[in-house]
Amino acid sequence: MNTGVIEKRAVLSKPGYPVPSKKLVDWVEEVATLCQPERVHWCDGSQEEYDRLCNEMVGNGMLLRLNPELRPNSFLARSHPSDVARVEESTFICTTHEVDAGPTNNWMPPTRAKEILRGLFDGCMRGRTMYVIPFCMGPLGSEIAQIGVEITDSPYVVASMRIMARMGKAVVDLLGNEGKFVPCLHTVGKPLAPGETDNEWPCNKETKYICHFPETREIWSYGSGYGGNALLGKKCFALRIASSMAREEGWLAEHMMILGLESPRGQKVYVAAAFPSACGKTNLAMLEPTAEFADWKLTTIGDDIAWLKPGKDGRLYAINPEAGYFGVAPGTSTRTNPNAITTLRANCIFTNVALTEDGDVWWEGLTEDAPAHLTDWQGQPWTPDCGRKAAHANARFTVSATQCPSLDAQWNNPDGVPISAFIFGGRRATAIPLICEADSWTEGVYMAATMGSETTAAAAGKVGEVRRDPMAMLPFCGYHMGDYFGHWLSMEGKLAKRPFIFNVNWFKLDKDGKFLWPGFSENMRVLKWIFERVHGQADVHETALGRMPIYEEIDWSGLETFTKERFGQLMEIDSELWKHELELHTELFEKLGERTPDALLKTRESLLRRLN
Ligand code: GTP
Ligand code: SPV
Ligand code: MN
Repeated sequence: MNTGVIEKRAVLSKPGYPVPSKKLVDWVEEVATLCQPERVHWCDGSQEEYDRLCNEMVGNGMLLRLNPELRPNSFLARSHPSDVARVEESTFICTTHEVDAGPTNNWMPPTRAKEILRGLFDGCMRGRTMYVIPFCMGPLGSEIAQIGVEITDSPYVVASMRIMARMGKAVVDLLGNEGKFVPCLHTVGKPLAPGETDNEWPCNKETKYICHFPETREIWSYGSGYGGNALLGKKCFALRIASSMAREEGWLAEHMMILGLESPRGQKVYVAAAFPSACGKTNLAMLEPTAEFADWKLTTIGDDIAWLKPGKDGRLYAINPEAGYFGVAPGTSTRTNPNAITTLRANCIFTNVALTEDGDVWWEGLTEDAPAHLTDWQGQPWTPDCGRKAAHANARFTVSATQCPSLDAQWNNPDGVPISAFIFGGRRATAIPLICEADSWTEGVYMAATMGSETTAAAAGKVGEVRRDPMAMLPFCGYHMGDYFGHWLSMEGKLAKRPFIFNVNWFKLDKDGKFLWPGFSENMRVLKWIFERVHGQADVHETALGRMPIYEEIDWSGLETFTKERFGQLMEIDSELWKHELELHTELFEKLGERTPDALLKTRESLLRRLN
């Protein structure tokens, strides 16, 4: 029956594989006993292992090999239509007391969750291989990094984790006998009967649970094979569990990209920006300045997650815990994000994009005109007039950071990089101006905490509805949001030199429903103003919301057609709209109840006074 354990011992005695700690072996054994896989495979993280798994997946139809001349060593995966995005409704924070998960999270007591999960995991890997993936979030040996071990029955997850994290033997070595790791247990929730093979993307169409146990630092994920539901190092560990660790230990785990910006005079700053899912982090992190700014250099540290710790010098240091990008494909083009297009030249896994007749990939926005014939993300013939999207709106690429031409030389520095500014921004058609600098840390935290954004295809559910998404962390905060605000406020006292805080909105619309701001590489103009503010160089104009640039303070070279009037529309503070915004802020604070920090309630009062 329990062949898994026998096989596991065989793999463990493989020459060159380090001896895992007793704690790790015991856990693997316990999971194998529960899940009853056909066999157990300890991942070494080698290229050979990756190639072999990909070939196996090509063999059984899980992956399609793209044309090696056009897209070398790259694959297309098509997921089940019920498994295309994060499932927020099925995501739980399991704390002993409900109040510790807070009103913005789904909650279950740990005992109840474990009871349900043990039932679901019982025999869930029958007929499949159980993979053990030792991984490190952050540079190996970094004091800010953390180790996890994911157990999964999905070879797609193994291949993706090899791209997204430092993974394999080296991590088992690093763990040694005593090392701590976060156990991350994952199954697609579809056992195979004897002789049965997959004839589609395996997942559980009815039941999905993404459960987090911050008190014991564990993750159990059932039923989905897609993205953040299944690559447990990412949102589950690096945000939900890590945010809870960070609060206990005095640091921050944030949904932020990190970029470096170097001026023509060689001064360099690092900036971290939090935008909600599918709202522009990857695009900003890889921004390629236009010709007018060719003497500026923008470099990429990370595109999705930042871990930030106060350093000995009192500044805040950030690492990117990830090693790759799991980025939104639609909209990515040589015009919007040329660095991403170069990054994607080879060695990628694409999920839910369309396939061209010559065996390459396509998605909406990649080229101005769509090819005449495609195979869509569900494997159906597609033509431009068929009325359907060729790629799923949340189609994604998985690619190693090392392929990114704008990768910062410090991206793998275990000490991280010092952050000079935070940028927060949502997707807002109205009300929120292009750029605003907070007057103080507390006002910056207030602006970030009350941020709203339209929902996107990154999560299952309705798209385009404005909801509060504090710090872009609504789906990712592993504890009570009110306590999270308090933690953010308290960070000021831990820093001798705190980062500036800015708010941006690339998505304001004009009367005709068109974007007022050209965005993408033109965001460089805003970054330059931020750079100058950090160096105390640009004058500001005080408004009810904070400090704003006047038209003349933005560098318009190459975009002289952008009129002062249009800029006025972008920067307008409509006090009626803002009074409505403040009501929505109150709704959020009331929802959070007595754990809302007083400082934020007071900031709201002073904002209201200034608007009047
Ligand atoms: P996650 O990976 O889901 O966390 O998302 P992300 O924040 O990295 O989002 P990404 O950069 O991939 O942006 C996704 C969407 O935002 C795409 O549709 C882009 O075209 C659009 N977008 C990004 N930057 C801009 C911009 O400056 N202006 C406009 N109008 N759209 C943008
Ligand atoms: C997001 O939704 O913010 C993502 C994609 O970055 S996923 O990893 O699927 O959560
Ligand atoms: Mn994200």
